Amino acid sequence: MREKIVAGNWKMNTSIQEGKHLAEDILSGLDRVPEGVTLIVAPPFTHLFPIACLIGARKNPGLAAQNCADRNNGAFTGEVSSSMLASVPCQYVILGHSERRQYYGETNQILLDKIKLALDGGLRPIFCVGEVLSKRESNLHFQIVSSQLREVLCQLDPDEFRKVIVAYEPVWAIGTGKTATSGQAQEMHAFIRAFLAESFGELAESTPILYGGSCKPSNAAEIFAQRDVDGGLIGGASLKADDFLAIAGSFARP
Ligand code: 13P
Repeated sequence: MREKIVAGNWKMNTSIQEGKHLAEDILSGLDRVPEGVTLIVAPPFTHLFPIACLIGARKNPGLAAQNCADRNNGAFTGEVSSSMLASVPCQYVILGHSERRQYYGETNQILLDKIKLALDGGLRPIFCVGEVLSKRESNLHFQIVSSQLREVLCQLDPDEFRKVIVAYEPVWAIGTGKTATSGQAQEMHAFIRAFLAESFGELAESTPILYGGSCKPSNAAEIFAQRDVDGGLIGGASLKADDFLAIAGSFARP
């Protein structure tokens, strides 16, 4: 059985105090999370350590960073390395988010370097792929996603690849209130799995593929019910503990 994961990407939101409150509210509602569902929170860098202290020895939620450096420790002012993140401790790092690609010029080559360093540092990457609206409208979405997969994940060796979580986030659905239909999500997730199977065979059957883009309590159940959708990467709705927990609760109980 594949892992079921609901991850909250807080992006650049909340003060440390607000973030700690949000984490506390999530921790106090963990009984709403069905058994077998892994919850992950991805607050800003500054919040990671205080939130790790709140989480303590619990397995759930896991802790993710939203980015890491493309270099090892050293003279790289302003950067945060994967080994620093692992020492928080974080278990995951989001890489390849469309906002990083779009606003910070992260190319597939940079992302490959980051993924390798994340894995070396002991973190599991949550690697995001997805097309902008114009590419979907010109029917190039499969082409875009396959090149993002080919140039990054397909360059890993199988032992590295087995630790990766994929997130399909159509850029046109991020923060727009416009969700992909469950049919569009399933179609792309099945495509991603089949594409990865060409390089990694059976391993792709156990790769968690999350959907992201305006996922909310009212649409999560239908999206999560799709065969190749293994959970969600949630932006806006993860900033409200109640909504985030309701989304996690949308998985049909086993
Ligand atoms: P929204 O859920 O706010 O659309 O954001 C999705 C996202 O970018 C998660 O990484």
